[in-house]
Amino acid sequence: MKIFLDTANIDEIREAAKTGILDGVTTNPSLIAKEGRAFEDVINEICSLVDGPISAEVVSTEAEGMVAEARHLAGIHENIVVKVPLTRDGIEAVSVVSQEGIQTNVTLCFSPLQAVLAAKAGATMISPFAGRLDDIGHDGMEICAEIVEIYENYGYATEVLAASIRSPKHVLDAALMGCDIATIPTRVFNSMFKHPLTDRGLAAFLADWENAGDAVTGAVPAGAAD
Ligand code: G3P
Repeated sequence: MKIFLDTANIDEIREAAKTGILDGVTTNPSLIAKEGRAFEDVINEICSLVDGPISAEVVSTEAEGMVAEARHLAGIHENIVVKVPLTRDGIEAVSVVSQEGIQTNVTLCFSPLQAVLAAKAGATMISPFAGRLDDIGHDGMEICAEIVEIYENYGYATEVLAASIRSPKHVLDAALMGCDIATIPTRVFNSMFKHPLTDRGLAAFLADWENAGDAVTGAVPAGAAD
């Protein structure tokens, strides 16, 4: 499963990229607005930090405007994936730009049938919003599973990108059901590295090593010289 970071914060992206396991980044107008910087400057900087798909979203609501924005955004960098909302106009725009080889991420998807429309339009990625479905009492990951199944049934090339991830459990579910990508907020990404047994086990290994003495370590254990 590919791991994307769901943020427009440069420091967070730089830090996550150091791990060497970051495959891409997703942004949206709300995440960009939070940074208080020029949209294209932020997108360019993200592209310089991560060599993978970088989602940048259109803000037009009519197909014609979305197509014009998509062409412009795609020209910024070869890794740009144009994010388009799952409206009727959005699907129309994706049908046009996918014919031109522009990569798209159809966002704000809340049902498997919407996901079928995106795949038929030639979307590169579909973003079902798991957390926001959970928020209104639905099972967001169940929708993701249904999309994975439908895409497998018909061999659609569109990748399923689990979005609106709120917890490590969402990421685990996405991996188990075969989502192609999970886009993960920084807080959840950071938490995936941690396990109390890892910390406890490492502390015990280091304590044993520290106490082992010269015969084992080949060096004077730290503090032993005193
Ligand atoms: O990038 C889209 C999506 O991941 C938004 O998540 O937490 O605002 O529902 P959230």
